[in-house]
Amino acid sequence: MSDKATLILNDKSYELPLVKGTENEIGIDIKSLRASTGAITLDPGFKNTGSCESSITYLDGEKGILRYAGYAIEDLTNRANFLEVAYLLIFGELPNEAQYNKFFDDIKKQSYVNYNMVRILDGFPKSAHPMGVLASLTSALISFNPKTVDVESDEEMYKAIVKIMAKFPVLTAWVFRNSKDEVLTESDSDLDYVENLCQMFFKEEGKKYEQNPVIVNALNQLLILHADHEQNCSTSTVRIVGSSHAGLFASISAGISALWGRLHGGANQAVLEMLDAIMEDGGDTKKFMQKAKDKNDPFRLMGFGHRVYKNFDPRARIIKKAADEVLNDLGVSDPVLDIAKGLEEEALKDSYFVDRKLYPNVDFYSGVIYKAIGIPVEMFTVMFALGRLPGWIGQWREMRLQKQPIGRPRQIYVGPTHREFKPLAER
Ligand code: ACO
Repeated sequence: MSDKATLILNDKSYELPLVKGTENEIGIDIKSLRASTGAITLDPGFKNTGSCESSITYLDGEKGILRYAGYAIEDLTNRANFLEVAYLLIFGELPNEAQYNKFFDDIKKQSYVNYNMVRILDGFPKSAHPMGVLASLTSALISFNPKTVDVESDEEMYKAIVKIMAKFPVLTAWVFRNSKDEVLTESDSDLDYVENLCQMFFKEEGKKYEQNPVIVNALNQLLILHADHEQNCSTSTVRIVGSSHAGLFASISAGISALWGRLHGGANQAVLEMLDAIMEDGGDTKKFMQKAKDKNDPFRLMGFGHRVYKNFDPRARIIKKAADEVLNDLGVSDPVLDIAKGLEEEALKDSYFVDRKLYPNVDFYSGVIYKAIGIPVEMFTVMFALGRLPGWIGQWREMRLQKQPIGRPRQIYVGPTHREFKPLAER
């Protein structure tokens, strides 16, 4: 195969180099395109545009493969814990025991959150959406850690990473407890990362919290499954905000806002609301399938379809199995799971979904698990953010170390050409 692509524009031929990834993906390098041809590419939604070269996550949407730095998602969810995976995504290798212990110890030492942050939290109405509160609190953290990271210094980069890994879970637990008007909890350095999370979330005041291994395991799996997904909307946001040399916390706060939308991380909340609505309506899944297919109806089957996966989302397979196990282990029977399975079964044999290659995505079953372990619907996307944090950090770090230029797309202007200005009174 040639290592160049040829572009013919206005009868003139231009050669563009090809870039090949380790999994043989091909990109056409257009860095010199505008300078040599005067033209740009146009790709709204970036469906065909690579924004970077990355060593963090590989996915093949056609084959349904997802790997973090070469490791299959199936192995990681079954054999690693979330903190090991976080280390992998951030530093590129699974930690050995000494590296793991140091990373975890350093995180524990940073898990104190300045109590003035509680006053900021108190200022939000209890009805505020947890994602809005989380984005604001993450942004507010900057004021208590004002130094921007010198990315040339490994030590400063490491400190910033450890700080956000330590404080973010505390913030998510506070957002959760505050929405329920419960006393805020603090991090407990005797517990592992996910156990600590469970305690901070679920501990009842004045009572000892008993860990439930089913919940710890389910949460561990969900966080790993959500930990990275290459250049998705929120990650691209984190990278582009960071490319202006905004700090790590500010970039992550922007990522949280991007994740909130219903077409992205907000889909997990939307899925459960949809399943509840179908149940309340009498459980007629066929009726909702019709609505999803009707182009005059804005209804979409939430949790179905994916920009990149045109095959089963491998995360959905793992989560579906986990949902069955968790509900069984906890002795919970949730009719919403049956509705979800019914919808999936119908969609997989419906030509509308088959032709468009629409399969359940990661969010189709995650809400069923969150609900079973006691996380309310409006907190679902916060849980997603908690899982995505190491991915955002790793991608931000990679982008800064690659010295990526500021992200600044171009456009094709289609507005009015030059017009004579008229003063207000004459318009
Ligand atoms: N229900 C019904 N029809 C759908 C759905 C759906 N969930 N998803 C896509 N389609 C249809 C579109 O109407 C379109 O049909 P057409 O070709 O006849 O016009 C076709 O499938 C292609 O869809 P697009 O919107 O062009 O695909 P895109 O890649 O832009 O969107 C997205 C992907 C946003 C995920 C979309 O599938 C969707 O809205 N899904 C529901 C929301 C959701 O679950 N989001 C979570 C994604 S996973 C994540 O972010 C963690």
